[in-house]
Amino acid sequence: MDQKSQHMEHERGSWGSNFGFLMAAVGSAVGLGNIWGFPYKMGRYGGFAFLIVYLLLVIFVGAVVMLGELTIGRKTGLGAVGAYGAFSKKHRWVGYIGVASAFFLLTFYNVLGGLVMRYMTGFLLELMGVDGFSGQEMSFWNYILHDYGSIVFFNILFVVCNIVIVMGGIQSGIEKFTTVAMPALFFMLLFVIIYIATLPGAGEGFIYMFRPNWEPLSTASGFFEVVRVAAGQMFFSLSLGMGAMITYGSYLDKKEDLQKNAIIIPACDTLIAIMAGMAVMPACAAYGVDYASGPGLLFSSMQQVFINMGEFGSFVGFMFYFLVFIAAVTSSISLLEVVCTYRIDAAIDKG
Ligand code: PFF
Repeated sequence: MDQKSQHMEHERGSWGSNFGFLMAAVGSAVGLGNIWGFPYKMGRYGGFAFLIVYLLLVIFVGAVVMLGELTIGRKTGLGAVGAYGAFSKKHRWVGYIGVASAFFLLTFYNVLGGLVMRYMTGFLLELMGVDGFSGQEMSFWNYILHDYGSIVFFNILFVVCNIVIVMGGIQSGIEKFTTVAMPALFFMLLFVIIYIATLPGAGEGFIYMFRPNWEPLSTASGFFEVVRVAAGQMFFSLSLGMGAMITYGSYLDKKEDLQKNAIIIPACDTLIAIMAGMAVMPACAAYGVDYASGPGLLFSSMQQVFINMGEFGSFVGFMFYFLVFIAAVTSSISLLEVVCTYRIDAAIDKG
């Protein structure tokens, strides 16, 4: 479709191609939830058993809800509020809840995104010959609870990155950015996995993830705990329930195959989550970090890897956090887009 007919079809913009849409939707799904959230939850809630429950939930619940959200968005051509409102004015509140959740989620997501930028900057400074910033001592909780200066500074920086990209619009902002960033993330992760797999003791991490062990599901309370955490993680990781997929679907051309997209997005998302697990779990095993350490797990295990890597550590550390940062931004812009599309629809009197 040429530029002109595209503009005539949607005055609110649209994706340039299905690949561009896919990369943006995968970009939304793949984020801190996969790289930071998935490994620490799997580490804390049962390893292999958690992985299996998670996979079942993605297949039987996630992909179905994903298709539902994309369909609602594409059919109505509107963001969350407008889309639910198009079915019945009485349903608009569902959309408002989505917009509010997206907004509140952004506030926490941005802090975490800022932390990733802090680690990235630390390694960059180290690369430039300024020592002492890659910070082995800078643990997750140290940052969150004590390092107010960095939190505020990097939080603002992260928010500015979001705003700049979203202001670029759908095609030249979000789509251009994610089409390069997502494949780059995949290859970086692959490199890190292969490197960590060669470390002595790393094999235990793979065993923890992949050797069948149903023990964590053997009691009723254990079972419900795993299902509860895995379900929350699944919705979060697939960007469901807040209108993000409705919003992205609303910019999608009528001729694209939704069913195919609703399978590819969860498949890519799950692949990256498993790959993040395959980097973090073996790193924990190799450096004696407790799998069940909780929210700081990604940082405590990967810091060990980069700091002990020798000469290239700072470079690989910088690249790794840079790509995690990209993954985080491609997710947070979709949250911001939920809020913006709501306002855009209202402004052009559609929603
Ligand atoms: N799916 C993102 C992640 O895994 O980090 C987070 C997210 C983005 C959740 C967009 C919800 C959403 F609407």
